[in-house]
Amino acid sequence: MNDKKRHTITAALPYANGPLHLGHIAGCYLPADIYSRYLKGKGKDVLFVCGSDEHGAAITLRAKKEDTTPQAIVDKNHTIIKKAFEDFGIEFDIYHRTSSKLHHETASEFFKTLYDKKAFKEETTNQFYDEENKQFLADRYIVGTCPNCDSPNAYGDQCEKCGSALSPSELINPKSTISGNKPILKETKHWFLKMDELTEDGWLNDWIETGKLDGVQQHDASKWRKQVIGQCKSWIDNGLLPRSITRDLDWGIKVPVEGGEGKVLYVWFDAPIGYISASKQWALDNNKNWEDYWKDEDTELVHFIGKDNIVFHAIIFPIILKTHGGYILPTNVPANEFLNLEGDKISTSRNWAVWLHEYLEDFPNKEDELRYVLTSIAPETKDSEFTWKDYQARVNNELVAILGNFINRSVVLTHKYYEGIVPPIESLTDYDNEIISKIKSTQLKVDELLSHFKFRDAQTEAMTLARLGNKYLADLEPWKLIKTDENRVKTIMNIALQISNALSIVFEPFLPNTCTKLKHILNNNAVEISAGHQINKAELLYQKIEDEAIETQIKKLKEKASPNPSEGRGKDGSNPKAKPMKDEITFDEFTKMDIRIGTILTAEKHPDADKLIKMTVDTGIDERTIVSGIAEHYKPEDIIGKQVSVLINLAPRKIRGIESQGMILMAENNEGNLAFVSPEKIIDNGGIIS
Ligand code: 2FM
Ligand code: ZN
Repeated sequence: MNDKKRHTITAALPYANGPLHLGHIAGCYLPADIYSRYLKGKGKDVLFVCGSDEHGAAITLRAKKEDTTPQAIVDKNHTIIKKAFEDFGIEFDIYHRTSSKLHHETASEFFKTLYDKKAFKEETTNQFYDEENKQFLADRYIVGTCPNCDSPNAYGDQCEKCGSALSPSELINPKSTISGNKPILKETKHWFLKMDELTEDGWLNDWIETGKLDGVQQHDASKWRKQVIGQCKSWIDNGLLPRSITRDLDWGIKVPVEGGEGKVLYVWFDAPIGYISASKQWALDNNKNWEDYWKDEDTELVHFIGKDNIVFHAIIFPIILKTHGGYILPTNVPANEFLNLEGDKISTSRNWAVWLHEYLEDFPNKEDELRYVLTSIAPETKDSEFTWKDYQARVNNELVAILGNFINRSVVLTHKYYEGIVPPIESLTDYDNEIISKIKSTQLKVDELLSHFKFRDAQTEAMTLARLGNKYLADLEPWKLIKTDENRVKTIMNIALQISNALSIVFEPFLPNTCTKLKHILNNNAVEISAGHQINKAELLYQKIEDEAIETQIKKLKEKASPNPSEGRGKDGSNPKAKPMKDEITFDEFTKMDIRIGTILTAEKHPDADKLIKMTVDTGIDERTIVSGIAEHYKPEDIIGKQVSVLINLAPRKIRGIESQGMILMAENNEGNLAFVSPEKIIDNGGIIS
């Protein structure tokens, strides 16, 4: 609904506990910036906000590890992140921070209002407590053995090895990460947002599905991405439960009601409110009324996020806003999927990432090159992949060879034949008319695609116009015609400059630096370029990326990543980095395991956990349900019919509410990629592995 009067655009507040990598940029900030520039280009009233997300246990944990304070951690990262955004041309109207006083006040006010409206229930539960340090332990402060995969380093909220979501009480042999001691269970009180009661009349479901709120059409559900609606529906269908929104921590926003001493608001409660605090600060700085951007039905509110943030922005934050009252709800939440890197998942802990600030150092003034590539491969509907070779190919074959080349030819020829003055149209052929109408239709198409959040297709459309321009010149060869038909060349060059001018407009949201340069070259800011207009001399828009630069990057990535245990063996052929062998077992112990060949009959995503797949497996003995943490490695539809190895006499256990009756054996490489252990030829189901 971008026919609304005003637009509030938010981009997920990055955690101030580390720098930004390309996955963050492709997933959220670049599309948000494109959308904001697109609307501003149309003269719309737009407020584009972001800021640092500075609370949460991860930040306090980092401060402890680095023997410093949380404030020092966030101050340092806030500066790095803010600068990287600026250098990359992500143009927020404000980049705020959640450690600010204004944000603390705003988030406190939200909590108190919801508290008064009885949106919370208080519950006393038993939680892990570190007696030595006299503190309750946030989930991240507890490590132990994963009940699902035996990894000894699982956190209280998640096992990073097998991906399963955990609660601290599920960990085997839990330990406090602060003292290393075994924590005790101790009573503590917390506030829970009554997500069940607050949505029991079904408004949330109706709003997401139909776009209607209290009978009024609030958004166009057909513009919402399928995976966003899908994730929301599965959360809702599984039944929303009260969710704890306070924590026993001393870093964050103090719980502003009686009994709240020593407790802070959960970082995910205060972070989205950060969009509102940022808007307030911007309004103060610019003499505006922030309420227009958050409380007026004639404002479009769009949250740009990565897929891991969907539930917070499309379910929890809308519940908070609606319960508070007086606020509009998001019109769209165009979440992106993930960007992978050189064949593997981006991992900050393994340093398998291309950091934005490092890119900007290594490739100065090449922001648009990266913007172009990241939009070309934007993970809008499924995960996608960045590789340095692909980056090089897209820059060289598209930006240099198509866009740069076309502009250069048009400008150089205009100078050569007409001293840089746009020649008039003498007469038009069918081909010319076709091109002129293509200029108009491209502008309309790009506009339409952007309004539907289809950034990748919109940019492709813009590049198609440049490609067409190139072809037009190559087909008509004005450099030959100039000797025989001067009038024809005038028309051709006029049209080439019109295309160039249109490119300086359609590419503006995607390639802002290029378009600034292009507008300077054309000496024109208007939507049309008229005959008689004087243009400036050509400047090179892009340079070829050489193989050497790419090889350097690939090498750097591999060298900086945590060592890969498969490389470098000892003199005796042993692999010093391989995981050590487990304790010896007897043959009898081995034969206790009943491992069989089975076939996967059905497979579907676990409704309540992104990383899990629920399967029915024919084990030759029976058909049974097995839940496995492989959703990041396989799509359900791709594994149906596969023969696999199944440990069938493993005691059944519940995984995220579903009983799993056995375990599928998986092989894992050093990068954490999983593969089924399948027979080398077809074996009847039930075949024994021994
Ligand atoms: O996932 C993240 O990086 C969070 N810091 C995003 C917060 S978005 C919003 F709610 F502020
Ligand atoms: Zn695990």
